[in-house]
Amino acid sequence: MPPLKCLISAGPTREWIDPVRFISNPSSGKMGYALAKEARDMGFDVCLVSGPVELSKPEGVEVIEVESALSMKRAIDEKFNFYDWVIMTAAVCDHRPKSRNKIKIPKDQFPENLLMSRNPDILKELGEKKRENQVLVGFAAETHMVLESAHKKLKQKKLDWIVANDVSKTNQGFSSDQNEVTLINSDGQENQISRADKSVIAKAILHAIHLSWLEKAH
Ligand code: PMT
Repeated sequence: MPPLKCLISAGPTREWIDPVRFISNPSSGKMGYALAKEARDMGFDVCLVSGPVELSKPEGVEVIEVESALSMKRAIDEKFNFYDWVIMTAAVCDHRPKSRNKIKIPKDQFPENLLMSRNPDILKELGEKKRENQVLVGFAAETHMVLESAHKKLKQKKLDWIVANDVSKTNQGFSSDQNEVTLINSDGQENQISRADKSVIAKAILHAIHLSWLEKAH
């Protein structure tokens, strides 16, 4: 049997204001890279679409480097049809500056109010076009009403699974080596995965999804 194909996004996106300033978030890529390494170790054929991070590329994984939400969307859309599982760990910026200034905006001319455009919701669009036998996994980064919001995103984005994490704490979620998550399936069943290194969390997530995939007799 050919190896299962797994497409994973990781890291932040950068939305440039001018050549020296951008809008972004604290995602380090650690969660997504841990998932990519674990999926590779499980024998899957892995492609990692990565925003700008400080991590070294995992061996044996195809890595596509992107910067903005729009370039991440292009890369994922090109690959989507060829993959069995798609896992969106990336912290995609929901907005970008309406225009990118070609030259550095002088400090005294910097606008008090920056005009913004909405970025596409990459995952929601994938949910609309996903094939019956594709598995679509999202992450929900929340600071409050963590599980309620995750359940809502699971339904709104037509996902098979969502991984809820509380990003209001400094020792988990963004940038840290550890995480604590709740994995929720499409029936709304919750499985809590206690605080552990992101490699351990990645293993637990992938094994749970794989078990369910095998049970559905793919
Ligand atoms: O990178 P680390 O430092 O290891 O941190 C890991 C993490 C905190 C980034 C990760 O665990 C996490 O929670 N990732 C999801 C971040 C996020 O954007 O969450 P969200 O709740 O805003 O979005 C929900 C889902 O929609 C996510 O799967 C996201 O990738 C996707 N999305 C969001 C916005 C957008 N415009 N397009 C999207 O596809």
